[in-house]
Amino acid sequence: MEVAQILAEIEPVAGRLLERHMGVAKEWFPHEMVPYDRGKNFESGAQWSPGDADFGDAGIEIDEPVRDALFLNLLTEDNLPYYFRDIDRLFGSDSSYGEWARNWTAEEGRHSIVMRDYMTVSRAVDPVALERARMIQVRGGQVPDPGDAIEALAYVSMQELATRISHRNTGKLMKDEIGTAIMSRVGNDETSTISSTAT
Ligand SMILES: [Fe+2]
Repeated sequence: MEVAQILAEIEPVAGRLLERHMGVAKEWFPHEMVPYDRGKNFESGAQWSPGDADFGDAGIEIDEPVRDALFLNLLTEDNLPYYFRDIDRLFGSDSSYGEWARNWTAEEGRHSIVMRDYMTVSRAVDPVALERARMIQVRGGQVPDPGDAIEALAYVSMQELATRISHRNTGKLMKDEIGTAIMSRVGNDETSTISSTAT
């Protein structure tokens, strides 16, 4: 059977699952999770150092591997334009697939917003290195390239699961409760994508 035929055949199921997801997905707001009172202006050209991290309470630190995980997890989220590009190309803009992809993209966008704001106000990572890495990454436009929509379905299911695990595990290793809550929130979002689309 051709991929297009398979997609057409299961499209009504995708539509029902999308409807179910829209019925149970809980709205949440990145700005309500970010501790903006930790924030201070950054001086232009100032050099960041690990000691600049400020998690509100004295004595809380962030371990280097956790910092690196946050950095990489955010870069993964920042590549969202290319995930959307490939899903749109493989599944099309019409029908339930298009609607699903656009809604998924809108929901995914919250992840980088909440993580970047948290990391910036907490000075958890070097903001200059982070921005330079984002520029390199997004300019490069390199993402996995599934051959067709069936491969993409398998890939996205695995990717969402892997991202959930990565975010949750990173959150668990943070000593800052707010950081843990944010990473857990983002991880749960990846879960809701899986549970709404993979059954
Ligand atoms: Fe995400």
